[in-house]
Amino acid sequence: MSQLPRIVVLATGGTIAGASTNPASSARYQAATVPVSTLLAAVPALQSVARVEAEQVAQVDSKDMVFSLWSTLAARVQHWSAEPDVAGIVITHGTDTLEETAMFLHLTQACPVPVVLTAAMRPSTSLSADGPLNLLDAVRVAGHPDARGKGVLVVLNQQIHAARDVTKAHTSAVDAFVSPQGGPLGFVQDELVRLARTPAHAVAAVLPVPARWPDVEIIASYAQPGRIAVDAMVAAGVKGLVVAAAGNGSVHEVLIAALKDAAAAGVAVVRSSRTGAGHVAIPPVVDPDAGVFLSAADLNPYKARLLLLVALAQEPGLAAAPDRLQALFASV
Ligand code: SIN
Repeated sequence: MSQLPRIVVLATGGTIAGASTNPASSARYQAATVPVSTLLAAVPALQSVARVEAEQVAQVDSKDMVFSLWSTLAARVQHWSAEPDVAGIVITHGTDTLEETAMFLHLTQACPVPVVLTAAMRPSTSLSADGPLNLLDAVRVAGHPDARGKGVLVVLNQQIHAARDVTKAHTSAVDAFVSPQGGPLGFVQDELVRLARTPAHAVAAVLPVPARWPDVEIIASYAQPGRIAVDAMVAAGVKGLVVAAAGNGSVHEVLIAALKDAAAAGVAVVRSSRTGAGHVAIPPVVDPDAGVFLSAADLNPYKARLLLLVALAQEPGLAAAPDRLQALFASV
């Protein structure tokens, strides 16, 4: 009989590690309290799927995610990926910023073995907790040969998503995670892992983990915005701004004026869309004036910020090379 795959679980906290004194409530609980050893012990079926070992990398509510934890996580992924007999890595995470951590790893990790993030919408003590099955499914995917070469993956609610594409789209439902452009890559149904398609975008890491993190922020375009925030951020030395623009990348004229001044001061400005799905046109069709700013393609504002952040960390001068920066947004 062949040996079960060796899978490493890197735990970072979140609701999957949350606990409550009221099992009937999925809203009143404390995230990031249950140790990973307890989470694994609650899923005896893991023993017939993989040789699982775990490392408690952090214990945080992911709303409080920080760059230093991303750097640590990247280092632990690289460490375990280099172990010759590790078949895959699972990262347990909070759902709130899971899509950002997934995007960060997508941009920076070569993934010689599958790297799979998972989470839960309900705490571990709740009635019908979703964490145990999500954890089991994530381990199944991480150890599956078809998951190799697919880049960073996200597994929740029996679905397999590409890290670049997935987003949280509901406050509380267990099917909160969706990939608005192309849907999930596949699914898990008990021992059946089916990857029906490969990610549409390159899966190899293209950018290094930043040694220094530039200030890159997000602002939104809406009815009668002020320019106070943009001007203050420019004065404070922001290096990049992502606009959560309306519709197909349309930006209010007041903000356009402020952002033109920001661009003239050397700030990289990228338009994303606040709609939740779709591609921001290059060049824009709705507002020719906004053509001075780059398009985030189909990246939502949070993922676009990640790309701009990591790209400017590697090469601060990219703000002055809009063609190269635009090509990056079109390809990653
Ligand atoms: C968190 O993101 O850490 C808390 C919320 C969750 O995991 O659903």
